[in-house]
Amino acid sequence: MSRSAIIAMDGPAGAGKSSVARRLAQALGFTLLDTGALYRAVAWAADRAGVALDDAARVTHVADDLVRRGAIRIEPAEGSGMRLIVDGRALGDEIRTPEISMGASKVSAIPGVRAALLDLQRDFAEGGVARGVVAEGRDIGTVVFPDADLKIFLTASVEERARRRHVELAARGSQVSLEQTRAEVVTRDKQDEERPIAPLRRADDAVLVDSSALEVDDAVALCLRLARERLGERG
Ligand code: DC
Repeated sequence: MSRSAIIAMDGPAGAGKSSVARRLAQALGFTLLDTGALYRAVAWAADRAGVALDDAARVTHVADDLVRRGAIRIEPAEGSGMRLIVDGRALGDEIRTPEISMGASKVSAIPGVRAALLDLQRDFAEGGVARGVVAEGRDIGTVVFPDADLKIFLTASVEERARRRHVELAARGSQVSLEQTRAEVVTRDKQDEERPIAPLRRADDAVLVDSSALEVDDAVALCLRLARERLGERG
């Protein structure tokens, strides 16, 4: 059976997954699947509907309803990027705020939400996307695509991740302090690692890449080398 090549990239918040995954996809002519955006979209939609994010039943209903109506759609975008459309609206910076980051982490611990989003992710990869997909998230190598051609666990020290996140937020005009950003990163790590369902963890067969002392270019080059070695084997 032929399917697109799949590269799974998991790791904690702020490890540089989004930039590395996007550039890796670009270099390989693959499409990016940013799965965190889906959890962010559910948190955003629930919030807009006035649903408390710790109300598991109602948040699950929001996620189920979006999926059932086909109202949440993933589309490939220019430059190996990804566009997420919710109820006809392309979501951008509104799902990148610290509040939605924390909200996404909260709703991602709800089993019904994870179940609702699972097929969406698998269908995207099987739906004839170009040559392949670089999927990034927390449970890609462990749950979503356990048979991925290559699994990378990208991480970095908490200090470095907080620093990068802070630079990113500041570039978007946010006033959040480095201290606050660090606290958010630590809380999110804890929530994502300790939830009972599909927690953040390195798959046994994932290659560990510590980007603490790497520039983005070097992290991309390293992942690209791993991908070429592995995809070469796939033939
Ligand atoms: O990658 P991100 O920061 O956009 O992800 C936001 C939250 O979504 C993250 O804190 C946990 C959740 N998430 C998840 O549980 N599983 C994924 N595959 C991707 C993200």
